[in-house]
Amino acid sequence: EKAGHKHFMSKEIAEQPTVISEALNFYMSEDGGSVVLPDPDIDFTQYDRIVMVACGTAFYACFTAKYWFEQIAKIPVEVDIASEFRYREAPISPRTLAIYVSQSGETADTLAALRYTAGKAASILTVTNSSESSMARESDMSLPILAGVEVGVASTKAFSCQLTVLLMLALKAAQDRGALSDEDVKTQLTHLRSLPGLLNVALEQSDAIANVAAQLAESSDILFLGRGAMYPLALEGALKLKEISYIHAEGYASGELKHGPIALVDQHTPIIVLAPRDKLFEKTVSNMQEVMARGGKVLLISDEQGLKEASDGVWQSIQMPTVPDALAPILYAVPAQLLAYHTAVAKGTDVDQPRNLAKSVTVE
Ligand code: F6R
Repeated sequence: EKAGHKHFMSKEIAEQPTVISEALNFYMSEDGGSVVLPDPDIDFTQYDRIVMVACGTAFYACFTAKYWFEQIAKIPVEVDIASEFRYREAPISPRTLAIYVSQSGETADTLAALRYTAGKAASILTVTNSSESSMARESDMSLPILAGVEVGVASTKAFSCQLTVLLMLALKAAQDRGALSDEDVKTQLTHLRSLPGLLNVALEQSDAIANVAAQLAESSDILFLGRGAMYPLALEGALKLKEISYIHAEGYASGELKHGPIALVDQHTPIIVLAPRDKLFEKTVSNMQEVMARGGKVLLISDEQGLKEASDGVWQSIQMPTVPDALAPILYAVPAQLLAYHTAVAKGTDVDQPRNLAKSVTVE
């Protein structure tokens, strides 16, 4: 049942190109020119604001999608974790689309948050891996992520499928609102078509990542840095690492480092920098150089051009294929997951069933 893998988690990481292909086929028109949603269709001209709520890894998928919805579709997005949102009595204006993201569709806090917005928001949409779940049933619309059963407690393929569906949704929003021309939507969809192949290339770095991970396993604290849509991924990378390897890890926005966390950096601190060669690259590199100047050991994950420009003096580097900007968070999820996985394997922890954690959190 693990299809030759030692753990469900590694099987599920490896399945990502396949399940993402399925999600792409499901949401793309046959001519590849537009995004098609199952009935009932969502008309994004009806909303002037989106609120996205979830827990844990699903929350980081929402946080990433905020960048896409705002940059691509020009619609303002608020994101929050469900356990805060449900109690903070947020005013919900009537032209709000409320989006809930949940692998299980049964997470107690997310379901309670959904119920809070029922009757207040214009529409409630759930993005889930479980079409029969409570959240799917209580929503106006529900979109499947088509990840297939995820057994490992640490979410991997559900995360990347959530991201894929949310990116397609952002493109649909851009299409409806005229924020992108038909031609530009088509170009973005062509890029998405290349994603499964790029993910396969990223997966080929597994052995190189295992070598670095064997050294990370000796650390007691690890930092993850990213800017733009790579910031939520830094948070996700840190969560994944701590939940299965039990090593303390924190994700920070690169620009926030000098406001406090840099005090943590010494020669024992590995700092994982997630930085494709995009328009924010130089800013991130300057933050990276600040930690190197304080003795920090940097693992730079970037593409060919990024490594050429900035790998001088770094401790380790991992090369990702070059990708269009919008796809980077989905692609870079792979090395983040593999780092957590191989570090946990090196430490000998229970990868698929980490201590104190449950797959579905149906109590508050
Ligand atoms: C982390 C992880 C959790 C879940 C969270 C929400 O790897 O799996 O953080 O993402 O408990 O669960 P769902 O998506 O079922 O609502």
